[in-house]
Amino acid sequence: MSCIETKSLSKSYGVINAVDDIDLSVNNGKIFGFLGPNGAGKTTTIKLLTTLIPPTAGTMKILGIDAIRSPLEVRKKIGVVLQQPSYEPTLSVEKSLEKYGMMWNVERKLRQDRVEELLLSFDLAELRNIKNDELSIGQRRRVQVAREFMHDMNLLFLDEPTVGLDPSARRGLLDFIKDKAKDGLTVFFTTHLLNEAEYICNEVAIINKGKIIAVDSPEELKNKFGREKTIKIHLDTIRKDLSDLLIGIKDYELDFNSGTNITIRSNDSEEVLLKILQILTANNIVIEDLSAIPTSLEEIFLSVVNKSNASSN
Ligand SMILES: Nc1ncnc2c1ncn2[C@@H]1O[C@H](COP(=O)(O)OP(=O)(O)O)[C@@H](O)[C@H]1O
Ligand SMILES: [Mg+2]
Repeated sequence: MSCIETKSLSKSYGVINAVDDIDLSVNNGKIFGFLGPNGAGKTTTIKLLTTLIPPTAGTMKILGIDAIRSPLEVRKKIGVVLQQPSYEPTLSVEKSLEKYGMMWNVERKLRQDRVEELLLSFDLAELRNIKNDELSIGQRRRVQVAREFMHDMNLLFLDEPTVGLDPSARRGLLDFIKDKAKDGLTVFFTTHLLNEAEYICNEVAIINKGKIIAVDSPEELKNKFGREKTIKIHLDTIRKDLSDLLIGIKDYELDFNSGTNITIRSNDSEEVLLKILQILTANNIVIEDLSAIPTSLEEIFLSVVNKSNASSN
């Protein structure tokens, strides 16, 4: 079943189309990554989907409910962690979780169990009696995310939840989210970090200037946009005559930093490599080192965003 379904969803602020004609379809039990640079429209999309702001145009169904007609019904069934910090300064970590559970009417025993479980999962046990005010930004963020798991929900929205976390807390949170998704929770997760999306998302939408410019699994995005590969060949001698020998071959660059380096960057990198190897062999030129550099989602993302910027200018 589809968990999030939007048609032509849009939100404008004056002349700015913060969210511009978005069609989304997110299935149950998936981690859906919403990836884009700053100002792309990620937060605005989350605010729309969680009924915090009304759209300028379009329709949306959340968990099968018409979210424009019945926002309150939607809000009862979802969780949301917004981007801006939210905490009560004088409340301790433990009490923050406890209070959140009370707000959601979680019964006492279950509430206590969950507090203990979350204190452990989010590495907050030692901070349980510390007031929010006295926590670091990263610790506060962990409390803000942890407390959302005090209540049952079918769908969780997380707006850049890992910002401000150190690498181990970041990894811990991503693994925690992965586990919850295994148990059936659907997660809508925004980030501007590719490696995060690659690590936990089943599907990724790339958004730029309010528009979705690609949707696919991280693997497929790589297949579609990542055909270009980089191959580096290093010769320990300087061969200034190489450019003459390689005449007629495209998609390569030479530099002479400590020896001779040939860099092939091409959609047909294997073929270019073969031709270059033939020429090197025919001329008895010895290769000292050869390496292929796989295209990361990071590079794909940047190239897709740059192309979309170029075509809209
Ligand atoms: N309340 C608002 N009033 C005016 N412009 C806004 C408002 N909220 C967001 N915007 C604009 O909409 C665009 C998208 O913002 P946002 O959704 O916060 O992007 P992201 O979360 O991807 O960084 C930006 O150009 C931002 O300045
Ligand atoms: Mg944002």
